[in-house]
Amino acid sequence: MVKTIAIDGPSASGKSSVSKGVAQELGYLYSDSGSLYRGVTWQALRKGVDVQDAAAVVECMYEAEWDFFVQEGATIFSIDGDVPVQELREKDVRESVAFVAAIPEVRKFVVESLRSLAAFGSLVMEGRDIGTVVFPDSPYKFYLDADPKERAMRRYRELIAAGEDEKADEVMKSLQQRDKIDSTRKTDPLVVASGAQVIDSTSMTLEEVVRTVVNAVKEK
Ligand code: C5P
Repeated sequence: MVKTIAIDGPSASGKSSVSKGVAQELGYLYSDSGSLYRGVTWQALRKGVDVQDAAAVVECMYEAEWDFFVQEGATIFSIDGDVPVQELREKDVRESVAFVAAIPEVRKFVVESLRSLAAFGSLVMEGRDIGTVVFPDSPYKFYLDADPKERAMRRYRELIAAGEDEKADEVMKSLQQRDKIDSTRKTDPLVVASGAQVIDSTSMTLEEVVRTVVNAVKEK
């Protein structure tokens, strides 16, 4: 039977590393739902669409050809034949994605696409609304959190390691702004799903968090 493990939480709470670790341990596919919101944003930006213009973003999203497939244990997608990966992490995408993700039509398209990925097999999917909206019936729901300062430092270190020229206080501000938009938006805000196990990873190692999730899944 196909299983879907939902791992939600705010930015830089460790969702990606944990989800990849859990997927590897269990032999499930890793699926990054945020990359789809980033993909819609990237497509709009490269087509010169104003990301504040919701109708134009939605039109651009539907005009594009989307294909979903599996590569190296993860679900990925192409847009008009291109597979954006690094591009999705760039600053312009990062700064606009929370606005794009607040557009109800965009969420509808992404949620339907995410649900269709279960056809590829059991998934560990990370995001903001996986346990509340995408797979609300899943018995495997987790909400990862960490102290905001710790999250900002993690994101800062990631950006510096990726060669980006960023200041720690600006990273903190941008993270706070994204958290605020994500948790206060009208459609599918970031909340703890009912039945989700909350894990505060502030002082836990990655291995400890992965183990906690894997054990909880095995115990069900
Ligand atoms: O997880 P990631 O940082 O890549 O997500 C980028 C943005 O996409 C988030 O800030 C949020 O606005 C949006 N998102 C969402 N729902 C999800 C995943 C991501 O709204 N399930």
